[in-house]
Amino acid sequence: MSPAARVRALKLTTFAAAGAPLVALTAAALGGGLGANPVETITHETGEWGLRLLLATLAVTPLRRLTGWQLLGRVRRMLGLWSFFYVGVHFATYAVLDAGLDLGFIVEDIVKRPYITVGFATLVMLVPLAVTSTDGAVRRLGGRRWRALHRLAYLAGVGGVVHFLWLVKADLLEPLVYLVVLTGLLAARIPAVSSALGRWRATPARRPDQGRARATLAPRGSEGV
Ligand code: HEM
Repeated sequence: MSPAARVRALKLTTFAAAGAPLVALTAAALGGGLGANPVETITHETGEWGLRLLLATLAVTPLRRLTGWQLLGRVRRMLGLWSFFYVGVHFATYAVLDAGLDLGFIVEDIVKRPYITVGFATLVMLVPLAVTSTDGAVRRLGGRRWRALHRLAYLAGVGGVVHFLWLVKADLLEPLVYLVVLTGLLAARIPAVSSALGRWRATPARRPDQGRARATLAPRGSEGV
């Protein structure tokens, strides 16, 4: 398969995988399968997928380093935008179906309930990342500034996990799993750990190929985020 065909196949697979929860949720909504509390089901599903895809976005760089599979970088933007989409629907569900678009109530909720405060701050962090996700924005900002801005994604990851930890009342297991994954992803960005990941797979026999793949397939200006 040519490199371009492999990129296309990977993008298509990622798009289908990230869009599948939306299709499942829509099908359940149309078929009356959202359970006794449909608003709660939509809020929970979209919140979870928003967080999962945010963590998947953050996993791209360490996985690329660990596996040497440079193609992964080509789906990072798509994963990030799907995460933003689910979080957007999550917030819209809360604002429209839960809060009845009552702005006063929403502002009071953001101020008074810490997990909503953190959720809102996280959503706000994701906005500039989505807006500057285009190739044009990378060019306009310059690679260095773009990369610095997009490190906000790590803070958003922390925000998403803290939001989840804060809102659960009893069963902490699931948010704790996200916390462990996030801690691993943050640790992978420590320079010593990051270069150890690179050394782990950099056997002399594979090096020439990896160099070529990096030169041809890495997204422009976005390496290292
Ligand atoms: C203004 C922004 C946000 C608001 C108002 C909001 C609101 C909510 C509400 C009301 C719940 C359900 C709480 C409950 O059942 O007691 C929830 C759950 C959740 N939210 Fe958010 N959220 C926001 C942003 C975010 C963001 C940015 C993320 C992820 C990056 C996120 C991830 C989650 C997760 C993972 C859950 C738990 C789902 C579950 O229980 O299975 N939320 N959120």
